Formats: sequence, structure tokens, C-alpha cells
Amino acid sequence: MSVPAPGTSSAKPLFLRALAGETLPVPPIWLMRQAGRYLPEYREVRAKAGSFLALCYNPELAAEVTLQPIRRFGFDAAILFSDILVVPQALGQKLWFVEGEGPRLEPVPDAGRLAEIDGLADQAKLDPILETVRRVRAALPPQTGFIGFCGAPWTVATYMVAGRGTPDQGPAKALFGRDPALFQAIIDRIVAASISYLNAQIAAGVDAVQIFDSWAGALGPEDFRRWCIAPTRQIVDGVRAVHPQARIIGFPRGAGRLIPDYVEGTGVDAVGLETDIDRAFAREAIQAKLPVQGNLDPLLLRAGGPELEREIAAVLSAFGDGPFIFNLGHGILPDTPIAHVERLLRAVRG
Ligand code: CP3
Repeated sequence: MSVPAPGTSSAKPLFLRALAGETLPVPPIWLMRQAGRYLPEYREVRAKAGSFLALCYNPELAAEVTLQPIRRFGFDAAILFSDILVVPQALGQKLWFVEGEGPRLEPVPDAGRLAEIDGLADQAKLDPILETVRRVRAALPPQTGFIGFCGAPWTVATYMVAGRGTPDQGPAKALFGRDPALFQAIIDRIVAASISYLNAQIAAGVDAVQIFDSWAGALGPEDFRRWCIAPTRQIVDGVRAVHPQARIIGFPRGAGRLIPDYVEGTGVDAVGLETDIDRAFAREAIQAKLPVQGNLDPLLLRAGGPELEREIAAVLSAFGDGPFIFNLGHGILPDTPIAHVERLLRAVRG
């Protein structure tokens, strides 16, 4: 069946053209966490919502903050405003955010508690987020791409097991060492929920989805294949079974020299690169095969000055003559000056 991909006309967004493998004279650009605390208009809406999670589940306000960076900067893609941890919440795990610290979940350390985290538990909890997708889609300019997302099973599992962010993902590693079958059961539940969640986001109007594997770099090659590549492959297959044209970006942050294995093993369409990857390697071993996205250092964007100028030029010269989407190597920092983002856009767009 040949369904035309969204926007195959000449007006196809630059973001989607790059994602399809085109090399463009000026690369499309968006920034991870582009809707967030560095924007005064975000802080205002966030205060009105009362809490970060209340904002995620309020379609009117979540659509508004998704659109804010598009209005202000004209980025080439919008990313749905939500969080990767709404999936464990839909699976029945309690979730809250401690101001100034980060997420907290009721940990799932043993098989007894895992039974409470039941299969596709309550996907209806995600309905408000799908309503956000529909609202953003209706309001988005035609030249702007729209990205949905989920967390990769490994990264989501690190939070589910520890009940919070951890510096070394120790609790999750301890669990798969001690009881791999239990850990696999947790991974399997996340995979199933993520497939239906991403398929619902695509049906509601996103053009592409990104799978955030923020802690991929914590695993050695064997564990990386088992806990990152294999479950991500299942998600890619589960999405393509329903939406064969779906565009999928993988972001195995920190995977470095294992990224070519990830690309081959998962079947993603494009890959996000972290800040400290070797760019010559990334060009030859990754971008030669598929579009890449990245990888400006968020610390340098915050710092500004000549170092920032040099680094923007280095990113463009490494990746500009192949299929490429300009981005950061990780999320934008909350105290990044808006003027530095404006400077970045001028430097990239000329
Ligand atoms: O990129 C975007 O703008 C889309 C929205 C988005 C958020 N989180 C909003 C958010 C996306 C794609 C995420 C992904 C996410 N969430 C990841 C993977 C990417 C990464 O950053 O490594 C992870 C690990 C999480 C879990 C999470 N959410 C943590 C650890 C924190 C606390 C750290 C922090 O920055 O405060 C969050 C909170 C969060 N997610 C905020 C935003 C805008 C800040 C909440 C606030 O307004 O107080």
C-alpha cells in the first residue's frame, strides 16, 4: 500500500526532507527541551498550571507551550510538550516531581510490586496528551515538522526501578544482574505501552517520533544489545507495523562507538548524537548511512561568546554536507540566555 508521507508536496517541511535523507543547503534546526524554563512565556504558563505534571496533562496549556518556541524562534520542528515518565504513570506507577530536584516514582523492586504494573494498564491516562497533539497539529504552520516521543525502555526502566534519577543507574543494573527475568518483564511492559502510545501520537498528528535513551551510555556492549537495542527494535517494528511510513529518530545518548550497531540493530531512520562523540567518526561511520541530528554542547550555548561561534561552525562543517538536523547534544539548560539561541539561529541560517 503506498500512502504518501505527510507533506510530500514542494511545501514539505525541511525537517522531514532532512529526515528522509536529503542534504540541504541550510539544515533544519530545533532544540531538545526547546519548550522550557529559559523562556519567560513558559514560566508564566507553568505557574498558571500549578505544576509540571499538571501542565503535561492540560491540553490547552501544553499545546500553548509546545507552540511558544515556534512563534518566538521559528524552529523547523515542534516537539510535543510532555515527559517520558507519563508512560510508567499510565502503567500504574505513582509519579510526582520535586521542585528543583526532579522526578520521583514509587520504586518497583520486586515481583510482587511488578504485578501491580500491569500490561497496558490504563492508556486512557494518556488521552489528554493525544488531545495536545491534535491541538498543536491544527495550529502549526505548514513548514514546521511535529515530533512526538517516548523514552526508550532502558532509560524509563532506570527511573521505574530506582524511583528517581541516579548518577550511575546502579539500581537498574543491580536488578538486571540479580533477576534478569524480572527486569525483562519490566522492559516488556514498557515496550508494549510505548508502541501503542507512539502509534496513538502518530494517528493524532505527529510527523515523526524520537526515542530518548538518555542513559544508553551506562551499558557495556553486551548489555547495550540486550537492554537498549533489542527493545528499541521491538518498538520500531511495532510502530512500522501500524504506520509503515513513520519516521523514527533514535537518541542513544552516550552510546558513542556502539551507535553503528544501534543503527543496524534497531532500524531507526535517523540518530541523535551526543555532545562528546568524535565528529569524524560520526560522519564516516554513522552519517554515511543515515541522517544525523545534533550535537552542539548545551553548556557552550549557555556560555555564548567566541567558543560558541567556533563550535557552531565545527558542527556545521562536520555534518553540513550530508543529511543533517541541527540540534544540541542534550537538552537546553534552564539558564540559557535567549540572545544566545537567537545568535545560534542566525549563525545556522546565515
Ligand atoms: O524536548 C522538549 O521540549 C519536549 C518535552 C520533554 C521534557 N522532558 C520536558 C520536561 C522531553 C522530550 C523530555 C524527556 C525526558 N524527561 C527525558 C529524556 C531526555 C533527557 O533530558 O535526558 C528524561 C530523562 C526525562 C525525565 C525528567 N523530566 C527529568 C529527569 C526531569 C527533571 C530535570 C529537569 O530538567 O528539571 C524532568 C522535568 C522536565 N521535563 C522539565 C521539562 C520542561 C522541567 C520541568 C519544570 O518545568 O519544572
